[in-house]
Amino acid sequence: MEVDERPGKETATVVTAGGVLPPPEEKAAYVRDLFSEIAPRYEAMNRLISLGQVTRWRRILLRRCGIGANARVLDVGTGTGALAYEIAHHHPDAEVWGCDVAGPMLEVGRKNRRGERVHLQEGDALALPFADDTFDAVTSAFVMRNVDDLSLALREQVRVTRPGGRVACLEICPPGKRSLTAPLFHFHFFHVVPWLGRLITGSRNAYRYLPHSTLAFPPPARLAEAMGEAGLRDVTYERYTFGTVAIHVGTVG
Ligand SMILES: C[S@@+](CC[C@H](N)C(=O)[O-])C[C@H]1O[C@@H](n2cnc3c(N)ncnc32)[C@H](O)[C@@H]1O
Repeated sequence: MEVDERPGKETATVVTAGGVLPPPEEKAAYVRDLFSEIAPRYEAMNRLISLGQVTRWRRILLRRCGIGANARVLDVGTGTGALAYEIAHHHPDAEVWGCDVAGPMLEVGRKNRRGERVHLQEGDALALPFADDTFDAVTSAFVMRNVDDLSLALREQVRVTRPGGRVACLEICPPGKRSLTAPLFHFHFFHVVPWLGRLITGSRNAYRYLPHSTLAFPPPARLAEAMGEAGLRDVTYERYTFGTVAIHVGTVG
């Protein structure tokens, strides 16, 4: 296994013998095509592989953002917009935006609209199509391990958030090797999830990429440091569901 440790590349891209993860120069296109392919079944798969926990995690993240009245909120890598809709549902006076590079994910999201007003638009996390200081809060869920420059993605989120606003990130984090839950996590993620993914979405690679991409992502303490380096203060994180996901929150300025 090779690890790409070039300076500035916070997300080490792992090239495994089986070629599960793409080389760095192909990662953006690979990720966009992968999510475009699985878009119609993505949310059902998400609920299944998280054993129904995904909505709970999104709600915790939402609470930790401390969204006030008439807030403007952006969900980066919104996919089918599940978190953006959740925000709009709990904060009907908020102006909620979601952006993503995968058009088909956004298309599914537009069809899922249940009445909440959310602006879904194409946009890259590495060059967000918004002016400086636009949002009161910026969220991302299961996105940061997919971008090929974590530190640039964080700096972009800081740039579009007003001083005093919050940036929050929800990510999967594999338990440490010595953790009692590690064997269960690995069996679920490396065996059950790829099998289910193939059965339900028909995609051979998508749900093999998922577990490998979680191993290549920095652990929570390192992500907290990267958030600090990107310009966030008071960064805190909590782990949930036997430590298998982490929610990080920091304040701009
Ligand atoms: C695992 S899905 C998460 C979707 C959604 N946030 C959720 O909670 O279900 C990852 C999403 O990130 C998007 N994504 C990956 N790289 C991106 C980038 N550079 N800019 C914007 N979106 C990106 C993918 O297209 C995909 O929709």
